[in-house]
This record gives sequence, structure tokens and C-alpha cells, in this order.
Amino acid sequence: MGIQEKLEQLQVLRDKVQSGGGEKKIAKQYKVGKKTARERINYLFDPDTFREIDVYTGDSINNPSEGVVTGYGLINGRKVYIYAQDFTVNGGSLGKIHALKICNVMDLALKMGAPIIGLNDSGGARIQEGVEALNGYGEIFFRNTIASGVIPQLSVIMGPCAGGAVYSPALTDFIFMVDGTSQMFITGPQVIKAVTMEEVTMEQLGGALTHNQTSGVAHFMGEDEEHCLDMVKQLLSFLPFNNLEEPPCYAVREPEVDREELLNIVPDKPQKPYDVKKIIYALVDGSEFLEVLPRYAKNAVVGFARVNGQSVGIIANQPSFMAGSLDINASDKISRFIRFCDAFNIPLVTFMDVPGFLPGTAQEFGGIIRHGAKVLYAYSEATVPKITVILRKAYGGAYIAMCSSSLRADIVYAWPTSEIAVMGPEGAVNIINRNEIADAKNSEEERDRLVQEYRDNFANPYVASARGYVSEVIDPRDTRVKIIDALNMLSSKREYRPRKKHGNLPV
Ligand code: HXC
Repeated sequence: MGIQEKLEQLQVLRDKVQSGGGEKKIAKQYKVGKKTARERINYLFDPDTFREIDVYTGDSINNPSEGVVTGYGLINGRKVYIYAQDFTVNGGSLGKIHALKICNVMDLALKMGAPIIGLNDSGGARIQEGVEALNGYGEIFFRNTIASGVIPQLSVIMGPCAGGAVYSPALTDFIFMVDGTSQMFITGPQVIKAVTMEEVTMEQLGGALTHNQTSGVAHFMGEDEEHCLDMVKQLLSFLPFNNLEEPPCYAVREPEVDREELLNIVPDKPQKPYDVKKIIYALVDGSEFLEVLPRYAKNAVVGFARVNGQSVGIIANQPSFMAGSLDINASDKISRFIRFCDAFNIPLVTFMDVPGFLPGTAQEFGGIIRHGAKVLYAYSEATVPKITVILRKAYGGAYIAMCSSSLRADIVYAWPTSEIAVMGPEGAVNIINRNEIADAKNSEEERDRLVQEYRDNFANPYVASARGYVSEVIDPRDTRVKIIDALNMLSSKREYRPRKKHGNLPV
């Protein structure tokens, strides 16, 4: 065979690889609102920057690309590795070579210190390949674990992701799902019906809304594939690409909200709710805040923003939902977010307005002690700059947990509206002044008087400030400037912990 024929043969192979599972399968993909693996990659990467690797690995004539496209390219000029499962080829099912390709690209990402993105769209373990497929998953899970905390790992679910296959996304840092076209579950509706008699649809069981709102498995939900991939790009813009880098800096943008507004958000009455996100929008660059898990455990708000061009991880209690109390789900949400930021050198800014841990048998039986401990652990363990702003309530154990000075907040600012105490005034006087209230001629009047007295004496920022637990009581309008000051001061922070194999986070 001469070189011309050999080149023609190569071209046939190339065309075959590019065409995936063929027109019919691609048409089926479009019909349900899904793009092909290559279209997704092209949408995500800067134009003409994607380079495919392991192009002909496996039996490329009958099984182009082995049902997964792998490679690297640039996203906003920064290098990122990717694997994209191709549902048009054997349902994107994972056999030995498919897994090998994913493992190769994961190894490259780890060696090069760049993020790995997985676009998942697969029928799971390739049934015909038996234990080889299972071993392939195990190899991926192992790599996910080793890479954790070294490079950001993002999973985007763009079709089915079933059985043990869900555990690779679950081991990564963030899961994105597309509304209506992605599902994750360990056992599907048929198995569930056979075992527990429950009837449930695939969407109810493992759709994007279920995992973003009910289970908390997924962190972001896209309205469609493009919206989902846009969010991936937005998230990457906040992150360093490995644990030895600092996050990228951007041009400073002033918030789109007037700083005077900061005087009007927290109501005078301590019992009244408000939306803490209004405070965040008034403080961060361009009022841009990428909220993580916005539909789950809404009593806590976590997400990424920039202050003075620099990435920060924001954690806040949300008084407009369950009064901003800490419960099991909020504790999980907060602690995992803290650990991500700490692993990737992203300073933490905490906005505290917390009445306490949520009371009740459901919480106690569910293990609020164990789950709440994660927040204490994660904040204590974190060595990135930690800035806390107390907005209003800072009561009891929850005050400690939300990055008080005792957990090594570097700077604690308090607004004049702060109430820092063991418990709220109403609860406190009912215990410490029980007899006086009972003996009073007018119990209600006496209770009100004692509540006010308690608030004046204890529930303010000045006692904590006098004792050195608050760095400064500040005018709310100065909060952005104060955070910028603190970030500048803390930019050279180095804090060490005793050497150990690893700690034992309560799980
Ligand atoms: C081999 C598979 C496959 C699989 C799909 N296909 N899943 N081939 N192994 N796991 C093939 C189909 O035979 C079909 O081939 C093509 O992919 C497209 O599949 P369809 O069924 O036509 O597509 P659709 O109707 O959209 O249904 C998608 C689906 C369904 C819901 C994902 O294919 C399905 O239920 N697949 C099996 C899912 C499953 O049980 N997987 C194992 C999970 S357990 P043709 O040639 O007809 O086009 C698991 C263990 C992991 O993964 C363990 C890790 C520790």
C-alpha cells in the first residue's frame, strides 16, 4: 500500500471517529434535547483549542473512540482536561478501553496540575465486558480520590448516570446537571419497584431538580446543556487550577448596589427575616455571586464571588429561611464548601446571623451533633484567610461554629446590630429570671423589661469587643472596604498544623 492509500485509510478512520455512532444515533440524541460529545466539547473550549488524545485507542472501526472522547484545550485561555462520554456509541457504556482512556486523561490532568471535567452520558458498565468494566470504574474512583484537593474535578451529568457509575461524580468537587435530560441513581425505578414496591419515575428519582433540591447531590442545575456548560466556565473563573496556585485576579468592579443600601437590609426587629443575599450583592465585585447548591438547605448560602478582583468563598446564614438556623443539611453544605476553598487557597468570608442549631427530635435523631461538628472541624482545620462579619444574631454553639475568633477567624467585624450571646434574650430571661417573672404583678411587662435589660447588657457587640473576640465594630457601609483591607493584610498568611497522615472529619 502506497502512502496515498495509507493516508486515505487514515482519513476513513478519522471520519469514522468524528461521526460517532452515526446519523441515526445522533438524530436520536438531538430529539431528546442532547448534543453530541464533540459538540459539547466545542461549546466549552475556546475555538480551535481542543486536542483529542487516544483517538484510535480500541477497535476504532466498529466502536469509534470507544464511546468516550478525551483530550485537553483552553477555557478562557487556561488549560483544562476533559472526557466526554458519547452516548451514540454503545450508549456511552464503559468497558475496559473506555475506562483506560478516562484514566489516561485524569493522569495527565493530575501531572500537569489542571482541572479535569467529566461530561457524563452513559448507560453504565458495558454489560458484555463484565468484571473488566467494574475494574475500570474502580480505577476511576481511585484516581478521583487521589486527585481530590490537588486539582478541581467537575462532573457534568448530561444523560443517564446509573448504578455504581454515580460514584465518580460523587467523588468530585462539583456536580452539574441539565434539567430534564440527566438522571443519577444507584438503582432505577424498576429495581426499586421490585424491592420496595415504590412507584417512581426516572425524573422524580434522579432528575436534576431532585438532586439539586432534595438530595443535595448536585450543586448546579442548567436549564439546558449550554446554560449548564456556561456555569462550568463561570465556576472555573473563580478557581486556581491546582492546590499550589492562587486563584486568578480580575479587574476590580464596584458592586451594582449603593453602599447606603446596607443600612436598610437588616430589620430593626431581631425576629424579622431578610435576604442575606442582598448584603452579598451589595459587597462583591459587580454584584456577581455564583451560588453553590442554591436550592438545597436554603438556610445557608455558600458560593463564589470576587472582592477587589480576588476570589473569595462566601458562607452566610440565611435569615429568610428557617431563621437561618443550622441544621444537618446546612452543616453538610457549609463544611464541604469550606474544605474545597481551603484546599484551593480561596479565602473565606463568613456572614453570621444565626439563632442556633435547629431544635427537634428529627435533627437529634438524624445526628445533628455529628453533622454540626463538621462545620467546627472544617473552619478549625482551614488555614486560608478567614474573615467573619457578624450581622445580627450570634448565639450559642452556632456563634462558635460560624467562624468565631476561637476557631481562628483572622478578623471578626461586627455590625452595631450584632447580638452576641449564649442564647437569645427571650430564651435567656425565661431561664435566669424565671422567679422574678413569676412573682411580678404584670409578668408580661416584667419579661419585656428584663428582655430589654438583657439585650442592653449582653446581646450587643460591645461585650465581645471589649473581651477581644471582635476586631472592630463597623459601620455597615464600610464593610466592603474593611473586607478589602483584611484580604490585603492576610494575603501573606501562613499557618501550619501538626504533621499527620490526615485528620478524622466527623462524617
Ligand atoms: C452495553 C448498553 C448499555 C450497557 C446501553 N447500551 N447501556 N450496552 N452496556 N450498560 C446500548 C443499548 O444496547 C443500545 O444499543 C444503545 O446503548 C443505546 O441504548 P438505548 O437503550 O437504546 O437508549 P435509551 O432508550 O435512551 O435508554 C438508555 C438507558 C438504557 C436508560 C441508559 O440503555 C439502559 O437502561 N441501559 C442499561 C443501564 C444499566 O443497567 N447499566 C448498568 C448499570 S450498573 P443499540 O446497539 O441497540 O443501539 C453499573 C455498574 C457500575 O453501571 C459499577 C461501578 C462500580
